[in-house]
Amino acid sequence: MNITEMQNRIIELKKAKDVCILAHSYQAHEILEIADFTGDSYKLSVDASKVKNKNILMCGVRFMAETCKILSPEKTVYLAQPTAGCKMAEQMDRQLISKVKQDYPNHTVVAYINTTADLKTICDVCVTSSSAVKIVNNIENKDILFIPDCNLGDYVAKQCPDKNIKLLNGGCPIHACVNTSDVEKAKELHPDAEILVHPECRPEIVAMADYVGSTSGIMEYAKKSDKKEFIIGTEISIAEHLQYECPDKKFYPLSLKLICSDMKATTLVDVLDCLNGTGGEEIVLDKDTISSAKKCIDEMIRLG
Ligand code: 13P
Ligand code: SF4
Repeated sequence: MNITEMQNRIIELKKAKDVCILAHSYQAHEILEIADFTGDSYKLSVDASKVKNKNILMCGVRFMAETCKILSPEKTVYLAQPTAGCKMAEQMDRQLISKVKQDYPNHTVVAYINTTADLKTICDVCVTSSSAVKIVNNIENKDILFIPDCNLGDYVAKQCPDKNIKLLNGGCPIHACVNTSDVEKAKELHPDAEILVHPECRPEIVAMADYVGSTSGIMEYAKKSDKKEFIIGTEISIAEHLQYECPDKKFYPLSLKLICSDMKATTLVDVLDCLNGTGGEEIVLDKDTISSAKKCIDEMIRLG
């Protein structure tokens, strides 16, 4: 089967089996083409809560599929590629954060959505990169324990100077690889380009950027801008998608180190196998986990 035949078979099967396919913006172009909804983690979590289909197939990473299951426990939720985790989400677990919370009993625990469902059960509110500043500003408590990403947390702290934000030493190892010399080199090569970065990058990279935002935020900004050239400081797939969508503009990845192997793990074959019942993984969470983690995600939707 070639790519088009595979895509056509996927489209037939998803209709026949009442499956809604969600794909994060970091997925490959051929996967975005067969998805019903695409976007950043916030948009996908809201889309997932509204879909009418009985089944959801997530092309992304495990915490995203878990979020769908938490928001739609009556639906059957599949992760297309079971090995697709998130290196940041795997850094901190419930046991560790339970201990940390004892040192900060009066802090509101704000969890980046890139956390496991199990960890979310002991947090107060979730945030995504596109909603974090607004949500933290809307929290009544001044004292915040922000987990796990210290780079996103630092960005939020700078935008919310009235809050007292305690950060831990976690984050995305892929975004954290970018250093100031990568930015300097990219600027030298493309002096007219604007620099758009994800807040998972280190603070010194964020400080050098013209725009800071989520994956969808970066895409929207670049599409609307009158500028013609952009250096993209997030997973390299975003530069590729933008190049397809805006052929008269030029997009350059900030660094070729910006490759998330977990996001790259899902293929069209995985999607087809999952729809055929020979691959993928059904996400199973117990009732208590769903109801405790849901409070944290509901708070995100309420405050976001
Ligand atoms: P977004 O919230 O921008 O989709 O980012 C998710 C992510 O994993 C970025 O590395
Ligand atoms: Fe997780 Fe980083 Fe990959 Fe995003 S880029 S899914 S934060 S490992």
